Amino acid sequence: MQHQPIGIFDSGVGGTSIWKEIISLLPYESTIFLADSKYAPYGKRSKEEITRLSIKNTEKLLSFNCKIIVVACNTATTNAIKALRSSYDIPIIGIEPAIKPAAIHTQTKKVGVLATKGTLSSELFAQTSDLYAQNIEVIEVIGTGLVELIEAGKIESEEMYQLLLSYITPMLKKNMDYLVLGCTHYPYLIPVLKKILPKHVSVIDSGEAVARQTKAVLIANHLLNPGSEIGKHTLYTNGNISVVQEILKSSTIDHTIKQLHF
Ligand code: DGL
Repeated sequence: MQHQPIGIFDSGVGGTSIWKEIISLLPYESTIFLADSKYAPYGKRSKEEITRLSIKNTEKLLSFNCKIIVVACNTATTNAIKALRSSYDIPIIGIEPAIKPAAIHTQTKKVGVLATKGTLSSELFAQTSDLYAQNIEVIEVIGTGLVELIEAGKIESEEMYQLLLSYITPMLKKNMDYLVLGCTHYPYLIPVLKKILPKHVSVIDSGEAVARQTKAVLIANHLLNPGSEIGKHTLYTNGNISVVQEILKSSTIDHTIKQLHF
């Protein structure tokens, strides 16, 4: 079991931001990544649909004998992780908007969270927000259209800049000093965000924390690969291969991209 790959899925290519963090922390692990781009965005879907799609992806990863599943999608985690954990015996890691560190460090007591509708309207997000953000204002903004533009390969477009500007400006007016990226697609927007955000606003995402958690859970379950050979990495998409190629064009991780029906 220790030599089996780590299985990772997202509604699309955004979860590769988490995939990179995991490989950087765990170089001897192999990975299988599923980009469910055919059904993206998840953010507009119902909890039932998101759960059904998450089960479909998990079943596919299990067919590759994955030893652990990382749900590299905030929307799938906040809506479906309970169902996944109650259906499968292997460890399942999720990702949620990193409200806690932002709430600890904010000086202005105003923290912005940019995420999908599915994440912001979930019960799990409400619980996390209540737990960590008691004396601060959480400015929630739905990033409508951002995932679609990323999936269409339009990160550096004028359309993207204008859309982000329209979401960030009201948050800045409210004096936020931390912006939490609550969607795994959004770390790819950091270069564009840097053109919009003043220097005193810090951006937080959960990628590194998820990688650390994955390592801790592998160790606790005696599932860490004891080998010292660099891992192998295959990414499967049910959408357009060129979108995955484009998003990983500057990655130095050796990988293979394949098309798959799932
Ligand atoms: N990467 C997904 C997330 O973290 C995007 C969700 C979507 O497809 O709308 O939420």
